[in-house]
Amino acid sequence: MVVAPVPQDRQLVELAKRPQHVAIIMDGNGRWAQQNSVSRQAGHRAGAENIRRVIETLALYEVPVLTLFAFSTENWVRPRREVNALIRLIGHFIDRELKQLHENGVRLHHMGSLDPLSSDLRRRVEEAMELTKDNDRITVNVAFNYGGRMEILEAVRHIIEDGVPADRIDEELFATYLETDGLPDADLVIRTAGEQRLSNFLLWQTAYAEYYTTPVYWPDFNVDEIERALIEFSHRQRRFGGVGEDQAKRPPGPKHTG
Ligand code: FPP
Repeated sequence: MVVAPVPQDRQLVELAKRPQHVAIIMDGNGRWAQQNSVSRQAGHRAGAENIRRVIETLALYEVPVLTLFAFSTENWVRPRREVNALIRLIGHFIDRELKQLHENGVRLHHMGSLDPLSSDLRRRVEEAMELTKDNDRITVNVAFNYGGRMEILEAVRHIIEDGVPADRIDEELFATYLETDGLPDADLVIRTAGEQRLSNFLLWQTAYAEYYTTPVYWPDFNVDEIERALIEFSHRQRRFGGVGEDQAKRPPGPKHTG
């Protein structure tokens, strides 16, 4: 599958409001592979190719932050061959896409633990982050070997190590210990391939997110599909625990529920 670049002069849909942080669970590569009579690995390759199209589209819509769930802390139980293929895809993605992404103002950031990767691959990921760190068109967090619970536990450990007094720990401070420090909370979570669960993804940052699921498999999640999700989001009424009309901003303080 060859995913064509998104034309930069594409006519965009008008949106009443736009998410500041889109988080995507890229699901269905395996089912796409089966549907197209190719190997699961080929399905993941097609999924990796689709990442560029999605980044380009969200950049055109001026969405400033995108987080992609590429590999969870639970995915290690998959057959070794598949895990290795997914790890190799990171290197291929950097080789194939980094230059263009950098030129397009994309800041790449990894979330999770790189420890199990080879030192060579770790270095390449770190170099990609370093190269793109000052880009400000769109920040793309790639969650690889990431788990939301692990991230929260790490935050707790660091808070304790820093000797932060209990009465100083509030939501704002806690968020600075997460890997999304400095970024807005996710306000739109998209899951492809029909499943309706969060699977340990961004547990803290999705507290007030809107959910959007589609039966479309990830490699087929094209520009029209992204627009469908953005349009649906723009019509959602967000109350952040209140009762009135859509509020532009979540009210401060820890007491809001619902
Ligand atoms: C879920 O599909 C998808 C994954 C576990 C991996 C997602 C990874 C990519 C799209 C490529 C990652 C590449 C880079 C460069 C980070 P599944 O295998 O669970 O599909 P299925 O449920 O249909 O079997």
